[in-house]
Amino acid sequence: MEPVDLAGVRARVDAVLNEFLDGRARTAASGHLPAEVAESVKTFLGAGGKRLRPVLCVTGWHAAGGEGDMAPLVKAAASLEMFHAFALIHDDVMDHSATRRGQPTVHRSLTSRHASGRSALAAKQVGAGAAILIGDMALSWSDELLHTAGLTDGQLRAVLPLVAAMREEVMYGQYLDLTSTGRPSADVERAMRIVRYKTASYTVERPLHIGATLAGAETCLLDELSAFALPVGEAFQLRDDLLGVYGHPAQTGKPCLDDLREGKHTVLVALALRYADSNQQRTLHTLLGKQGLTAEQADCLRQVLSETGARQAVEDLINARLEQAEQALVHSSLPADTAGVLRYLARAATRRAS
Ligand code: IPE
Ligand code: IPE
Ligand code: MG
Ligand code: MG
Repeated sequence: MEPVDLAGVRARVDAVLNEFLDGRARTAASGHLPAEVAESVKTFLGAGGKRLRPVLCVTGWHAAGGEGDMAPLVKAAASLEMFHAFALIHDDVMDHSATRRGQPTVHRSLTSRHASGRSALAAKQVGAGAAILIGDMALSWSDELLHTAGLTDGQLRAVLPLVAAMREEVMYGQYLDLTSTGRPSADVERAMRIVRYKTASYTVERPLHIGATLAGAETCLLDELSAFALPVGEAFQLRDDLLGVYGHPAQTGKPCLDDLREGKHTVLVALALRYADSNQQRTLHTLLGKQGLTAEQADCLRQVLSETGARQAVEDLINARLEQAEQALVHSSLPADTAGVLRYLARAATRRAS
């Protein structure tokens, strides 16, 4: 029997989130407060998303031999997805992204909704501010979901430091990402540090640790999970960086110009700057981070990123990390069926097109 029913986990997490948000929209409406806050989060969650963090949280629980009533675990897993909604809504404001999950981003749709009677600039500012507030609300709701999940006092005490660490890591990662934006350099180490914090800890390692800790895992199991999770998490973001440049918006649901137009300091770009000859250097320095970058200029950048060998080098880094994660599973004490699920998730997370 499959140790983790992945589709079932997603469905149960979504049911928790929808019920919570419907309740919040009703309470707001009855108090003459804007129901659009909860409705925006519900629309955002309903538009898609892989639910990777909740799935990993439940897989961590199985890895540690979790048994019995899964309802509190599923609510804790749902709180991770609510936190993710916060992180993405704010990320899209910071990255000036127009689409996410195939839909207008939250700040873009709020800009349209509040455009009437305002200048374009004023509407944009209201949209960005309102999206920040909606993200704040999602952050606060993720707390509430965790604290009302029905966990025992012992479980809550054990898991709260991990949740705090996860939040701190992703915010440091995002801070590093943002403050490096527009000034890409050949510093591959810095680009890898961004990947490690904004994604690897946040997306893979901490969700596994949180689930395992809810099942009473000891430190040595958490270490075994880290040996798997960190390379997978890094490979996941490296794939995201490739998809952000070479992916198809119809599949990723995200634009394919943002990273280039913003001048993101990704590993792909850092390697290209390291490998480029003087002509290629000139193109990279002229076009990366150029406001109003055209589709033709983006194609020119894509070509240079490929011709320097950086694109292939990132593929090689992804493969090396996947291999490292698989080896970590081979040498771990995890039950064979759980290791099988983790192997499957690692491949899905790193060989994806969306
Ligand atoms: C996007 O996360 C942000 C990154 C850390 C790369 P996901 O790729 O998990 O986004 P959804 O939840 O599936 O939309
Ligand atoms: C988002 O990073 C990471 C988060 C932790 C939210 P990116 O900005 O690279 O991700 P996408 O490509 O917009 O999803
Ligand atoms: Mg982004
Ligand atoms: Mg970002």
